[in-house]
Amino acid sequence: MAGLLHPGLVILSGAGLSAESGVPTFRGVHGLWEGHRIEDVATPEAFQRQPDLVHRFYNLRRAALKSVVPNAAHDALVRLEQGWPGPFLHITQNVDDLNERAGAKKLLHMHGQLRQVRCLWCRCVLEWNTDLEVSTPCPECGRTGRLRPDIVWFGEMPYYIDEITRALQTASVFVCIGSSGVVYPAAGLVRLAAESGCARRIEVNLEPADVSGRFTELRQGPATREVPQLVEELLADLSR
Ligand code: APR
Repeated sequence: MAGLLHPGLVILSGAGLSAESGVPTFRGVHGLWEGHRIEDVATPEAFQRQPDLVHRFYNLRRAALKSVVPNAAHDALVRLEQGWPGPFLHITQNVDDLNERAGAKKLLHMHGQLRQVRCLWCRCVLEWNTDLEVSTPCPECGRTGRLRPDIVWFGEMPYYIDEITRALQTASVFVCIGSSGVVYPAAGLVRLAAESGCARRIEVNLEPADVSGRFTELRQGPATREVPQLVEELLADLSR
């Protein structure tokens, strides 16, 4: 019943959410793409051409997860998930596992996950916490060469688009945290929310994103400061 009485809330998070945990963002100074060409490491063609290089790139990132922990913004989002009485969905573009480690349950990874691999031979998806090599056999089918990081690369379709669209169609509040708003379709979700009648669209960012004009509010500052504050306000508003 609560779902019918209370407004729906959709969160979209990007690299800025995990930045203060020590996970590099993609764009800007010291961003991941500064040292790599996207077409060398983050496309299906790159994996066909130079699988060793692609594996090395994701192996390093997977290993780096061992030395980072969730921050105050991840924790606050879990308080929001647990305290929100209506429909709640957190869509993340991040491939780290910091939201899960903070306790998130209503979470969709639209760009895949570093700690998962996918076999292009047998289509299995497996949890994976170590390095992956071209010679690593698939634990399910035993074949080699086509086990890949379960990451949505440029030119590939993000996951869960139907679920995401459905959630946005009934949301009254949309919050986007730490995303530059240049990668579609994620960057287009704020527009979809607006067109679906979501009246309150809040951006949390160090700098306004490319799609900032579509938001109704900007909370400018670091996620670890702005997200806990926003969460307290959203939960307090419920009891008014
Ligand atoms: N607090 C809030 N926002 C921050 C913080 C912080 N501490 N640090 C950085 N930001 C903001 C930046 O201002 C920027 O707008 O986070 C955003 C990070 O942008 P990107 O690096 O482009 O990350 P994202 O938008 O998540 O990238 C989208 O691009 O390469 C692909 O698949 C990859 O999922 C990724 C997608």
